[in-house]
Amino acid sequence: MRLTDYFDLSHRNSFGFSSRARYGAEVTRVEEISEIACFAERLNLPLYILGGGSNCLLPERLQGVVAVMAIKGWSVDDSAQDHIKVTAQAGEDWPSLVAQITACGIGGLENLAGIPGTVGAAPIQNIGAYGVELSDVFERLEAYDRKENRMVTLTKADCRFAYRHSVFKEQPGRYIVSEVTLRLPRPWAPVLSYAGLRDLPTPQTPETVMQAVLAQRAAKLPDWRVLGNVGSFFHNPVVSEEIWRALPEMPGHPTDGGVKLSAGWLIDHAGLKGLRIGDAGVHEGHALVIVNHGHATLPQVQALADQVIRRVRAKFGVTLVPEPITLGSS
Ligand code: EPU
Repeated sequence: MRLTDYFDLSHRNSFGFSSRARYGAEVTRVEEISEIACFAERLNLPLYILGGGSNCLLPERLQGVVAVMAIKGWSVDDSAQDHIKVTAQAGEDWPSLVAQITACGIGGLENLAGIPGTVGAAPIQNIGAYGVELSDVFERLEAYDRKENRMVTLTKADCRFAYRHSVFKEQPGRYIVSEVTLRLPRPWAPVLSYAGLRDLPTPQTPETVMQAVLAQRAAKLPDWRVLGNVGSFFHNPVVSEEIWRALPEMPGHPTDGGVKLSAGWLIDHAGLKGLRIGDAGVHEGHALVIVNHGHATLPQVQALADQVIRRVRAKFGVTLVPEPITLGSS
């Protein structure tokens, strides 16, 4: 492992923040996780784990140690009758893994195609799209526990998954994920509950569903390689039925703790598409995405997000909560 001073993060985040960490290194072997954790502890600096940098906001100078998770490899175990297991190392690129697994004819991950980021980051926010969440196909993961200073196995129950939530958000910094095992049921049954997937021609295969998902994403969401972004900037808020009923025109989906509203719809109907502060802007196409028009900085993004929150609250009485993690904020 090679530690670098003033480690450049500018090409390691999908928003395109210009940013350097005081120290940083790529972690390519599981043993290096404890090494870099010890290094950060010795210097009394916070340790940040970066995957694809697709769900985080970065300051210009990050006073800490960044470990870029780059442990690679994956394998498939299809020895069981009723499921196939996929085990992938944390540094694997999630969308490439999904594309390769699906191309092998293995179904179960196709709705999660095209989500930028790494395997190790997927459980942190319990990635989800088009009617499927990671927790639906998750079996277990291996992680370094910084509290116990040892490797541990966490089951699905241990991870405490919920909508864009997990134990990793409850106890930030405690676990460093090194490997994830997924369990894909056999025989495959497509999940076509999302409105845009309902009318797919039959017969469907994992590949045809994946292509439909990728087409939906391409039609709605900006490609971060073209226009920097971190995907959905806010959680879809869950509100009480009373609040939802008071706003009859607003689309909502009843869920466990109330009714889930569309943050994108709220921002759009507050008239905020295209709103800009400096180079940070609300996307013209999908209002849930904040994009980088050139050299947007963290303060600009935060000021824009604050304004969106204030104006949506003023119009609809609903408070949006940002989804990406801000490094160096605590
Ligand atoms: N809408 C608007 N205006 C907009 C954007 C959306 O009116 O500018 C409306 C849409 O017409 C639709 C509703 O809002 O009726 C929901 O929009 P969409 O289907 O695009 O999904 P979303 O709720 O905005 C969520 C996830 C996405 C995921 C999609 C598809 C969250 C925070 N976001 O978005 O995840 O791809 O569903 O399943 O849950 C991400 O996490 O980065 C992400 C992109």
